[in-house]
Amino acid sequence: MNAVPKTPVPKQLSAVDAPDWVRHERLKAWVAEVAALAQPDRIEWCDGSQEEYDRLCELMVQAGTLRRLNPAKRPNSYLAWSDPSDVARVEDRTFICSERKEDAGPTNNWVDPAEMRSTLNGLFAGSMRGRTMYVIPFSMGPLGSPIAQIGVELSDSPYVVANMRIMTRMGRKVYDVLGADGVFVPCVHTVGKPLAQGEADVIWPCNDTKYIVHYPETREIWSFGSGYGGNALLGKKCLALRIASKMGRDQGWLAEHMLILGVTSPEGKKMHVGAAFPSACGKTNFAMLIPSLPGWKVTTIGDDIAWIKPGPDGKLRAINPEAGYFGVAPGTNEKTNFNCMATLRENVIFTNVALTDDGDIWWEGMSEAPAHCIDWQGKDWTPEIGKTTGRKAAHPNARFTVAADQNPAIDAEWDNPAGVTIDAFVFGGRRSTTVPLVTEARNWVEGVYMAATMGSETTAAATGKQGVVRRDPFAMLPFCGYNMSDYFSHWLQLGAKLEAAGVRLPAIFCVNWFRTDENGKFVWPGFGENMRVLKWMLERIDGKAQGVDHIFGVTPSYEDLSWEGLNFTREQFDRITAIDTQAWKEELRLHDELFDLLKQGLPNELVEVKQRLSKRLQG
Ligand code: GTP
Ligand code: SPV
Ligand code: MN
Repeated sequence: MNAVPKTPVPKQLSAVDAPDWVRHERLKAWVAEVAALAQPDRIEWCDGSQEEYDRLCELMVQAGTLRRLNPAKRPNSYLAWSDPSDVARVEDRTFICSERKEDAGPTNNWVDPAEMRSTLNGLFAGSMRGRTMYVIPFSMGPLGSPIAQIGVELSDSPYVVANMRIMTRMGRKVYDVLGADGVFVPCVHTVGKPLAQGEADVIWPCNDTKYIVHYPETREIWSFGSGYGGNALLGKKCLALRIASKMGRDQGWLAEHMLILGVTSPEGKKMHVGAAFPSACGKTNFAMLIPSLPGWKVTTIGDDIAWIKPGPDGKLRAINPEAGYFGVAPGTNEKTNFNCMATLRENVIFTNVALTDDGDIWWEGMSEAPAHCIDWQGKDWTPEIGKTTGRKAAHPNARFTVAADQNPAIDAEWDNPAGVTIDAFVFGGRRSTTVPLVTEARNWVEGVYMAATMGSETTAAATGKQGVVRRDPFAMLPFCGYNMSDYFSHWLQLGAKLEAAGVRLPAIFCVNWFRTDENGKFVWPGFGENMRVLKWMLERIDGKAQGVDHIFGVTPSYEDLSWEGLNFTREQFDRITAIDTQAWKEELRLHDELFDLLKQGLPNELVEVKQRLSKRLQG
């Protein structure tokens, strides 16, 4: 980054003219302090109104950051194209700066907090020059509910403001909850591209240097250099997962990378499921599933994050702390996810999808490719160009931002602060081999083992190599704000405590929708057909469905699933359920590798499960 010459802070900033609805002196002092460091030209206190949203979107249209889509096709919707270098989360630039390195653990990047503060002070100095600093008050969880957490993000990106308004409960009402001295998580964000006097802006300002930094003990977030998704919308992964997971550990609850769904049987019995899949591995789609089996109904509580706490009866209850979906566009279509396409009819911000000639959007897997469109990098794209160059029209991590209440399958309880009772936890990865369609854990400890040792092929949701199998414990590898071994202990202890209190624990399942054949094609049809697996799980909980006990748990035989309306042969079923002993020996070796990495503080129960499984596998 270029050195920014120091100039005195403009006069109007030292007083920080907050509107009279902000009565929180400490907050105002903090805003003034950050402004003095980052030196924005202006400060704008966001009120979360529609007028403000429309005005900022119009400002971004003028600046070229957003393109207004054809209102006849996609009312009140916009398209943003990011810088090609800023398209996904940057895990190698994400830091957990706890006082002690052990508290971040071996799976997190750690830097001494004092050292990091000094680095960031240097980077943030003058970083907002030539820009407006927006003060974005938001609530994760229903406004004013005892389980909600309030954050205030200071950002020099109007794109962040618009997205935060969709993704969180954002605006003036937050200050009513905060009052004069309420607790909030301070979140500071800059795209890291100050403008010199008269310098023209680019459509997607960012910086090659990136830092996504968390101080878990003091509950602060600082983000530098990226405008994209989880790097910049600090309420989401940074607050609601990394910081919240640490809060949960301290206070006896869980913050998880989980969707939450409600499922109602033809007889009218309703259950709730929390499911953790790594990024771009099917949470949004599972949460919006339209069952292929008649009479069943699935409703969405959340699609990405769950906060889970024991309720008054001791049972685990889950809420979705978000208010919108920041979902993967490619692969989404009317057949695979009708509810999602219906959600996206209007009031959407699309990022890095293609622009069609009639002013609408397109992405791979949405429909037949248009004869011509403009790709996410602003270049002409035709199916022919795609074929010869391998270029995609939409970036594989292209996303939509949309309010949750536009989902036609939204659950009536989705914003109930009391949450919903969880009957089952599901863990799943993207595995082209080895892992069978579904396995039920025999008990809580074996379920925790399954989740802890889960592997998944990496996706475009994070920068770096794709399609590489890595361990992703609980789908939380990039999101756990403390030591992963302590996280495993936390899950085990919570289960033990509830069990001791006589509470029936949720059943735990492990799934894999992604086994492929010799041509690399998915064998399992997935999406709405996942209802068949879901039905089996619920009937297992009810003690109605059969299964076969094997090395790792209980799986259905072909006869145990409903095949009504689907032509799926026993041979196909075998392909996605067969246990290859050799492959599993290799898999257990990878479990060993993980446990070796995490050996400090690794709960012994998990080591014992590992030994039991190894023995059974040796046979
Ligand atoms: P994040 O928002 O990154 O946390 O991702 P997510 O877990 O919500 O993933 P999402 O549901 O958006 O799915 C990612 C990709 O996987 C999309 O391209 C989907 O079309 C595809 N996908 C989802 N479910 C299935 C499935 O059951 N089978 C197959 N084959 N693909 C699926
Ligand atoms: C993920 O990567 O898991 C997401 C998208 O849900 S982001 O908000 O960018 O983290
Ligand atoms: Mn996610």
